Amino acid sequence: MEAKWESERVRELTPSATIDLGDRIKRLHASGRDVLNLISGAPEFDTPPEIKREAHAALEEDHRYMTYSLSSGLWDLRRAVADKLRGENGIAAHPDQIIVTVGVKEGIALATQACLDPGDEVLLLTPGWVTYDALVRLAGAEPVSVPLRKGSGRMLTDADLAARITPRTRAILLNTPHNPTGRVFGPAEVELIAETARRHDLLVLADETLEYLVYTNALHRSIAALPAMAERTLTFNGFSKAFSMAGWRVGYVHGTPPLVANMLKVHQHLVTCANVVAQKAAAAALGGPEGGRAGIRSGLADRRNLVARALDSIPGVRCPVPEAGLFCFPDIAGTGMDDREFADFCLEEARVAVLPGSAFGAGGEDHVRIAFGRRSTDALAAGIERIREALSRRERAAAGDGLRAAP
Ligand SMILES: Cc1ncc(COP(=O)(O)O)c(C=O)c1O
Repeated sequence: MEAKWESERVRELTPSATIDLGDRIKRLHASGRDVLNLISGAPEFDTPPEIKREAHAALEEDHRYMTYSLSSGLWDLRRAVADKLRGENGIAAHPDQIIVTVGVKEGIALATQACLDPGDEVLLLTPGWVTYDALVRLAGAEPVSVPLRKGSGRMLTDADLAARITPRTRAILLNTPHNPTGRVFGPAEVELIAETARRHDLLVLADETLEYLVYTNALHRSIAALPAMAERTLTFNGFSKAFSMAGWRVGYVHGTPPLVANMLKVHQHLVTCANVVAQKAAAAALGGPEGGRAGIRSGLADRRNLVARALDSIPGVRCPVPEAGLFCFPDIAGTGMDDREFADFCLEEARVAVLPGSAFGAGGEDHVRIAFGRRSTDALAAGIERIREALSRRERAAAGDGLRAAP
């Protein structure tokens, strides 16, 4: 049913591909069909016990954690974040330059609302996380796709970047490690973006959510640490993935004092502050032992190997092992289906839900995104096996049709 009261901004917004597919899965479940959900970007692991203990302790404590915190967030958490950014990322951070947000998603929304005007253009490397495009549009600005080409190993090139710069270009978004391809951007690419930003006076939105989920010896680089970049970079990170705290909804953004002051105005009016008990637990996550997070990472690394190898052994599917993140992004062109047909086929014939790559923008075609963060390795292995069997039934049926058609 059409809404009577509907803004133009929202009318033009497309629903999240993940949520749309989630609704289809629910309908299939309701009709009694069991579907393996491989679309979710949240690892299905427990939050490490020392972090949970901190939340319990906060609940047992006094009123302090039952009321609003400072809008920018608990001092202890902002100090822990500043220490982390200085020590691990080489960013000269101070707690006053940090806002604790309701997940990284809110942080990026604050940035797009506080820094962009209608008509501004924002360069998005695609395929890329679906929310960037939506948040840029909600701010009235225009996303401009810079394709990461599959022929070049998804490397960003100077020519691709330069060709999209116009007098209206205002910002560029760098997501490394990268969702959905699982790449960690190399030093030359990060420097290329930095150099472009300096030359054209652009703001850089650096989403580093997947930083702690690198499985190779590839080095994660924070662009804000490069010369003259801290003054034009907003760095976003959070707790959803590496600490398996997606439902706790805590993230943060770091930037210069004037940018942070503007974002804080939006944050105050939107949410007041992030959940305070969850903030207390997040401070313990950063300050505490690395054991819990190392366990989550190594569990995910095992699942990455299992899923990527199994997918790559299916005829018509090519799946490089991702360096980082939570997803495999196989090329399925060899099956003769496009990515939407393939995703539909997996759902209908193999009862496995995956996302079509074109949902992630230009360059995602012929690929699907398959999340490997499920707790049960048996379920993951069985799901990929169901895809293999369904494809092989399809092959046999096609061959059978061919035989019948023969004179
Ligand atoms: C690259 C990237 N950034 C941000 C997010 C959102 O994270 P949060 O739960 O902190 O809002 C996700 C979640 O899938 C993501 O993949």
